[in-house]
This record gives sequence, structure tokens and C-alpha cells, in this order.
Amino acid sequence: MVTQANRNLTDASADASAATSNPAATPGVGGPHVAFPRGNMPERKARMTAATTNGAATEKIGFRDVDVFYGGKKAIQDITLSIPKNTIFAIIGPANSGKTTLLKCINRTIDFITSARVQGDVAVDGVSVSRMRNVFALRRRIGMVFPLPVGLPMSIYDNVAYGPRMSGMRRGAELDALVEKCLRQSALWDEVKDRLHMLGTKLSGGQQQRLTLARALSLRPEILCLDEFSIAIDPVTTMKIEDVLLELKNEMTIVLVTNLVQQAHRLSDYTAFLNDSRLIEVDRTEKIFSEPAQQLTHDYVSGHFG
Ligand SMILES: Nc1ncnc2c1ncn2[C@@H]1O[C@H](COP(=O)(O)OP(=O)(O)OP(=O)(O)O)[C@@H](O)[C@H]1O
Ligand SMILES: [Mg+2]
Repeated sequence: MVTQANRNLTDASADASAATSNPAATPGVGGPHVAFPRGNMPERKARMTAATTNGAATEKIGFRDVDVFYGGKKAIQDITLSIPKNTIFAIIGPANSGKTTLLKCINRTIDFITSARVQGDVAVDGVSVSRMRNVFALRRRIGMVFPLPVGLPMSIYDNVAYGPRMSGMRRGAELDALVEKCLRQSALWDEVKDRLHMLGTKLSGGQQQRLTLARALSLRPEILCLDEFSIAIDPVTTMKIEDVLLELKNEMTIVLVTNLVQQAHRLSDYTAFLNDSRLIEVDRTEKIFSEPAQQLTHDYVSGHFG
């Protein structure tokens, strides 16, 4: 299937009818499908068998044979992987390996890039995102935090309250409580509680980054995609947010793109390693860091390149 960027955004009814259309999204898979370059199929088969025997995790996000092109350039090549529900799933890899591109396919923000073309299938809860006509509904289910903060030109309070208000939350006390909760979860509350009506854009870069996280959390997303969220945040604050993420995975599925391999090691249940637009290896995080199947993975996680 070919998914063209810039699709029409109408007719939510297709979402429901597509719900049963993806046979590949199989609840009961105990770990992610494991994708290796096509030359390595016997190993892939062996690993997939192992992954299906050890539990009953439900797939939240599935990539099947996904390629992404920007114009004529391939940014993602033949990626198949399965992200189980209620896990922290790390995506690691050197610069330009395709990590951010992969995230953008999940909520279809890739559609904003006119030169982008997606092939293959990306599914959320078994529904192909390319078949979802109501892309706004999809994006409401997915919180996305990119490395450069994008504060809305409004107060700190309104930055967080904006989404819930748009979704119909009107009561002041309820909104107040939600804003406080999200700012606490983003480790920002103590720094801003006395100036909630100050412009969000006047905060420091690291504070704006956390404000973006609070805004993403305010809609209680099913999926939280974090792209190098701690790039501008000091280590102590980063640890506080990491603690919150470990709690949040009970409520949502977290996809964590990080250049800090030790952050992936500390936090995630599964790790996928991308290099040069390909998925080199995906497995339980402890396996990736203790005995990866691929030499390239070993070299990357032990800091030999990237
Ligand atoms: N909007 C775009 N137009 C054209 N090419 C792009 C665009 N965005 C990304 N690319 C290219 O696609 C490839 C993958 O980029 P991507 O941003 O997904 O990598 P990344 O792994 O997130 O890198 P980084 O660690 O530097 O953030 C790179 O070669 C990049 O130059
Ligand atoms: Mg990136």
C-alpha cells in the first residue's frame, strides 16, 4: 500500500471500518516483532518465535514493511516492528538514521512534509493510520514532544489548559487541578506555580521543553512520543521526569527517541536500534545492552560510534 502525504482529512467513519483490516496487528504477541535486513531471515524467524512465546502483550503500534522517502531519498527502509501497549519503547541510533521520521509516521505529522511519501503500513490499535480519515482524532490520541520546544504564545496556564478546553473541559477547578497535575508530572510546577499567567514563551528553553511535555500530557494521550525530550534539561530534572514516565506507562504507551543510550537502558522495556535508515535490531532492552545479536548494535551501545 502506498500512503501519499497530504491526504484529505474527512469522514471519520472509515476509522471504524478499518478497525478489523490489519491482520498483522495481533494481540498476544509477547514482544515486538523483530526485523532484520532481508539477508538475515533465518535469524529473524528464530527471534520472532521466541518473542511470541513469552507473554501476552498487546500491540499498540505496528510498522509493517515501512519505507519513507523524502523526494527521491529513502529515510526509512523496510522497517517492521511492533510496539507493545503500556511499555516504554526506545528508539536509538546515530544522527539521520530515521528516528524522528519513524515517530512522524505514527501521528501522520509526516503529512506536513510535501516531499514525503510513506509505503507500507503503520497501524495504531490495529487500524492503519493511512485509512483514518479523521487525522485530527488520531493526533489527539498521540502526545508528541519534539526536541525544540514549541510554546504557544499564551500564558503558562493556558498552554496546558488549551487542549482540554478545546475538548470541552470548562470547569475552573477541574482545569486548575489538571494543569497542576501535568506541570508536576513535567517537573515544572515548583518553578512556575507563582507565575502561571506569565507568557510561556518567556520561560527558558528547558522550561519550555517541559511545558511542551505538560501540554502533551494534558489530553491524557494513549501514546506519548518523546523525541530527545531531555536535550535542554538538566540531569536532576531529567531524572524526575524519567520517574514520572515509569509511572505513566501504566496509563499509556511511550515511544522514546533518545540519543542517550543510557537513558534507553534505564527507562525502556524494549529498544530498537536504527542505523542508516534501517532497523538493525529490536529486542528487550536488557538483551540489547547485554548480548545484542548484531555486532553493530554492540558497537553503538558501547559507544564505539554514533
Ligand atoms: N523534511 C525533510 N526533508 C528532506 N529530508 C529529510 C527531512 N527530514 C529528515 N530528512 C532526512 O531523512 C533522514 C532521516 O532523518 P531523521 O530526522 O528521521 O533522522 P534522526 O535519526 O531523527 O536524526 P537526529 O538524531 O539528527 O535527529 C536524514 O537523512 C534527513 O536528512
Ligand atoms: Mg531526530
